[in-house]
Amino acid sequence: MKLFEIITDTKILKQISEEVKLPLSKEDEELVLDMVEYLRASQDEELSEKYNIRPGVGLAAIQLGIKKRMLAVCLVEEKKTTSYALVNPVIVSHSVRECFLNTGEGCLSVPIDVDGYVYRPYKVTIKAYDAITKKKVTIKARGYLSIILQHEMDHLDGILYYERIDKKEPFRLRQGAEVI
Ligand code: NI
Repeated sequence: MKLFEIITDTKILKQISEEVKLPLSKEDEELVLDMVEYLRASQDEELSEKYNIRPGVGLAAIQLGIKKRMLAVCLVEEKKTTSYALVNPVIVSHSVRECFLNTGEGCLSVPIDVDGYVYRPYKVTIKAYDAITKKKVTIKARGYLSIILQHEMDHLDGILYYERIDKKEPFRLRQGAEVI
């Protein structure tokens, strides 16, 4: 497992990442796959303690200071693990219905949690190249997975989750939004 140093400098994080050339170079492929492994390890109690890393379910290349449109997701649940190593992801459609995490979002690049609800579409359809399956994929995600993917895709455009929180009323409830 590769130990990454996660960037917290907003000057770097605010940059817009660039399209990655396909077919994927060996170097880019290794990087995005290492990012998935990092996330997997971060959710393992023993490993996260051993290496002193915060648990995370998503990571974008810019969080390592690499300005490329690549992101990793690894969601370890009781019965299954969902992982993606996406290159040049694009949201092709999304629901009007919104959702939000009732605990608020967090980010490995934001050391102190910012309180408030982040509203995002409940469902998204994303097209990308996936370095795990080595195929172009269409992902239909809803709820938590949809939030994770959208949070990571925001990183590619230099957007941090707290920028989406209503400053005046961070816990304002929007009608019809799904609580996750
Ligand atoms: Ni983040």
